[in-house]
Amino acid sequence: MTKTKILSILKKSKKYVSGEDLAKKAEVSRTAVWKHIEALKRGGYRIEAKPKVGYRLIETPDILSPFEIGSGLKSKILGCKIFCFKEVTSTQEIAKKLAVQDCVEGTVVVAEKQTRGRGRIGREWVSPLGGVWLSIVLRPNLPPQYAQRITLTTSVAVAKTVRRLYGLNAKIKWPNDVLVDGYKVCGVLVEASGEADRINYMVVGVGVNLNVDFSMVKPNLSKTATSISQILGRKVSRVEFIREFLFEMEKAYITLTKNRFNQILAEWRKLSETLGCRVKVISQKEVFTGEALDVDEDGYLLVRLKDGTVKRVVSGDVSIRKE
Ligand code: BTN
Repeated sequence: MTKTKILSILKKSKKYVSGEDLAKKAEVSRTAVWKHIEALKRGGYRIEAKPKVGYRLIETPDILSPFEIGSGLKSKILGCKIFCFKEVTSTQEIAKKLAVQDCVEGTVVVAEKQTRGRGRIGREWVSPLGGVWLSIVLRPNLPPQYAQRITLTTSVAVAKTVRRLYGLNAKIKWPNDVLVDGYKVCGVLVEASGEADRINYMVVGVGVNLNVDFSMVKPNLSKTATSISQILGRKVSRVEFIREFLFEMEKAYITLTKNRFNQILAEWRKLSETLGCRVKVISQKEVFTGEALDVDEDGYLLVRLKDGTVKRVVSGDVSIRKE
């Protein structure tokens, strides 16, 4: 696409690029260059035009486009194909459709907002403008019981990204919530399809409250959730977050597929908000309280009850008891 070509020339050059050079490199007329520059400006790019000198890119907007996310992306597999949408029901649904149509591993689906965002245990996931709502298609050569390991791996990658980019003390509540100061900033939903012994595809959904103001959207959620912009008091770049997260996630995913989940577990334990705490577990079958001892090699939570027995929590809701 010519517009993308012109943009990438301007991005690469720190100096002014003449209209003539742009026209030559993009193989279009100078009038066409001017038209594309005007369209880019309308799209939020700040481009300075100096008569007789040329054009210079001054500021790039935080636009969710395959081009913006893709340029400067350090991951090789994750994000090799990127689809961006203004509005979808759920990025999970789109990613699953693509997976069934044999899309390549590492395909990423991103949306500005979701009208039917889905959380764990059939819950609604509020996904207004400003957040990062994305799903990744993975095709690991692993048995289906690895889904839980992928969940833990993803939450480690998110927590590390939040720490590195914003210097915040991000922690993980088992299995997948990333919290800052006890408030949820991210959730992970992993859905797998396959046979008894082999995963066909996996869709890893990640929802990060980046520039979301819950008091405006759903005041009730402010009791348990917050956003990065609310904590920092400023907006942050969604594009930068996505690029950095995909890079962090790819490193973790490679570690996992090389059968080194122990390394991920060690990181998870360090980042855990749950271990060592008294917890209340609400699962489909029962409700109980106990002490969160550890996670086992499959990623399940081990909870010691009052009578000393240890329960293995496979799914459910875990809340940390303050007393
Ligand atoms: C949770 O309940 O904590 C998991 C939330 C996962 C939300 C993400 S947003 C992108 C993807 N699309 C969805 O509909 N859900 C996941």
